[in-house]
Amino acid sequence: TKRAEPLRISTVMTQDRAMTDAAAVPELPPGFRFGVATSAWQIEGGVAERGPSIWDTFAAAPDRIRGGATGDPACDSYHRWGEDVGLLGRLGVHSYRFSISWPRVQPGGRGPASAAGLDHYERQVDALLAAGIDPMVTLYHWDLPQELEDDGGWLNRDTIDRFAEYASIVADRLGDRVRQWVPVDEPNVASMFGYGLGTHAPGRTLHFNALYTAHHLLLAHGRAAVAVRASSTGEVGCANNHAPMWPVSDDAADVGATKLFDALWNGFFLEPMLLGRYPTDLLPLMEDVVQEGDLATIRQPLDFYGVSYYMPMRIGATPEDADVPFELCETVGYPTTDLGWPIVPDALREWLITMRARYRAALPPILITENGAAFHGTRGADGVVADADRIAFLDAHLRAVATAARRGVDVRGYYAWSLLDTLEWTEGWTQRFGLVEVDEATGERTPKASFDWYASVIAGQMRSL
Ligand code: NOJ
Repeated sequence: TKRAEPLRISTVMTQDRAMTDAAAVPELPPGFRFGVATSAWQIEGGVAERGPSIWDTFAAAPDRIRGGATGDPACDSYHRWGEDVGLLGRLGVHSYRFSISWPRVQPGGRGPASAAGLDHYERQVDALLAAGIDPMVTLYHWDLPQELEDDGGWLNRDTIDRFAEYASIVADRLGDRVRQWVPVDEPNVASMFGYGLGTHAPGRTLHFNALYTAHHLLLAHGRAAVAVRASSTGEVGCANNHAPMWPVSDDAADVGATKLFDALWNGFFLEPMLLGRYPTDLLPLMEDVVQEGDLATIRQPLDFYGVSYYMPMRIGATPEDADVPFELCETVGYPTTDLGWPIVPDALREWLITMRARYRAALPPILITENGAAFHGTRGADGVVADADRIAFLDAHLRAVATAARRGVDVRGYYAWSLLDTLEWTEGWTQRFGLVEVDEATGERTPKASFDWYASVIAGQMRSL
């Protein structure tokens, strides 16, 4: 790993200063909305009541998930959803972002909908509304029905038609009550990790050919957006994972590798959604797969642009004979979360300001659809987890959002990841992102210190910071 200083786009306000200089913190814009996010496979369990997904298959294979965790029962939210809605009410969030499990609605990914599956989500949506919480529904958070994967999964264009059909089924049932829709969560992670590197389900290692699945996920986004609009008055947006890319040195090779990775991770998703084109550098790779009309399908009007932010990435070039021309290098000089992810709130501010400068009129209002950190915290004598590091993380990132807003970025909401200690994909139960502790043996939920802190922030709209 190389250890050079990163090239920084923005001026730097150090994290220490951001944490202590309360006078410099502006309030968030009027009407700013707070939420929390989860996803179906990570919390629901209820495996017997739905069809299998690629994450069930992946988790059943040896050594894929730490500690051998599976989606059964996860946080058991399929049965304990009422308790979760109660927690959301106590937290005082304006909105709850959760995902619908495709194989719970259509067990094999095609054909008639399961009445029990739809009834379940309808009850949950109605309970949220009764508690004064607006539902934000993610239609695809990586749990593809296994039967569709058996037919090629996201490599197969037919999966896009199936997804559009599923989106229609859900929107027909819930379209009058769901305020906001996200068709596809983080298509870059789903394609790159799932099909490119094979570290996520379905575990394929197609390297650059995974771009085909990324294109198909983008088409799925566009087709589902159209399907949802046909039966819902709700807003339609996206939830794209973005990371400012910093070259590991100012060496031309490292800068070039960083530009390429930036195009793959960020631009490949941003540009077709907002501008209806792929980044020029990547066009040659897409010639065989893009069909006439595809980019128009992907570029749907968006009511909001969701940015899910966790960290910046530092990129370096690899030797000529390597499989891929870039590598992720360590970002030294910053504190890290339990996952080793660098904590750089300033990079969120930088990303928001850069996006606005680049895309201006093409950019709809922004929501931070996810932001959060893995920390264990320490258990106090009262049994409650004291997670001061999570509080500091969320505090600093909210301040970064507030600063971006003051600089003219139209950012209207923030969702903390996550309400619960969810199953963290391949990390299983070893990483804890929740405001609420979940005992994986019993399903028992215990709010952590960060839960009370977030509730007071929401109640005071930042004034309490
Ligand atoms: C983003 C993903 O959407 C979510 O599922 C995951 O748990 C968090 N990142 C943390 O890794």
